[in-house]
Amino acid sequence: MANRLVTIFITCLVALLAVFFSYRSPQQPNGQSLFTVEELALYNGTDESLPIFLGILGSVFDVTKGKSHYGVGGSYNHFAGRDASRAFVSGNFTGDGLTDSLRGLSNTEVKSVVEWRQFYFKGYTFVGKLVGRYYDSQGNPTKSLKGVEAKAARGAQLLEKQKLEEAKQPSCNSRWSQDEGGEVWCEDGFPRLVQRPLEIALTGKMSKRCACFKDYQLDQPGLEVYEGCDFLAKACRV
Ligand code: HEM
Ligand SMILES: *[C@@H]1O[C@H](CO)[C@@H](O)[C@H](O)[C@H]1NC(C)=O
Ligand SMILES: *[C@@H]1O[C@H](CO)[C@@H](O)[C@H](O)[C@H]1NC(C)=O
Repeated sequence: MANRLVTIFITCLVALLAVFFSYRSPQQPNGQSLFTVEELALYNGTDESLPIFLGILGSVFDVTKGKSHYGVGGSYNHFAGRDASRAFVSGNFTGDGLTDSLRGLSNTEVKSVVEWRQFYFKGYTFVGKLVGRYYDSQGNPTKSLKGVEAKAARGAQLLEKQKLEEAKQPSCNSRWSQDEGGEVWCEDGFPRLVQRPLEIALTGKMSKRCACFKDYQLDQPGLEVYEGCDFLAKACRV
């Protein structure tokens, strides 16, 4: 009798464990939630009986509850069943645009992809990792992933520094209207165009802003008077 109870108990335990582990790892043979590109592709929303999975920076999320976006016919169906990390900043959902490579993207662009991954961690369920560019076959982060995260962190640092730098030199006021076009002006000081010093490091591009300089600052290098505007004008058309 006691033997029989033990047998029943063990059978139940095994069944419970089996259910538990099958929930934890939907289809992984090794018990780890690791996907190959081909396995992930099955969860592209085509098969209604399967959940929809999305990969970003090698992290895989169940986005079934966002079926209207990610399901067949949804605007973001191209993100389903694959890792198209690059398309989160390029917006290019065609052909080679659907890649997980971030090569050549700027610090701020890479930062934005990392923020998208955060968006999925917050709003959806993490289900595993995609083996490839960002995770090795053991599920450990690759050099590529560490590189991406470092680049994003550098972007965040530079943005912070840029904010502090720009706070030192007040920005111009500006307005724009259909009839009158654009105008910049300073309550205190004179409008000048200046290069944003960290912009190249941040985005790889040049970018200027309008800042207000006092009369004694006007001989600083790198200050550009607006075209068609007087040296000591307080307002300039742009
Ligand atoms: C780089 C370009 C873009 C990317 C990568 C992108 C990505 C996304 C993603 C992933 C979602 C789904 C978010 C979720 O799971 O809730 C989404 C939602 C949405 N996007 Fe975009 N998007 C882009 C551009 C645009 C543009 C240009 C518009 C508008 C003209 C737009 C309008 C929307 C709207 C209305 C939603 C739905 C919000 C909701 O129903 O909760 N997106 N976008
Ligand atoms: C989408 O998923 C279905 C099954 O779920 C699979 O047969 C098909 O090949 C997948 N499509 C792509 C482009 O991988
Ligand atoms: C998307 O990327 C592909 C491959 O890199 C390129 O040929 C195509 O012109 C791009 N499309 C857009 C709209 O940028």
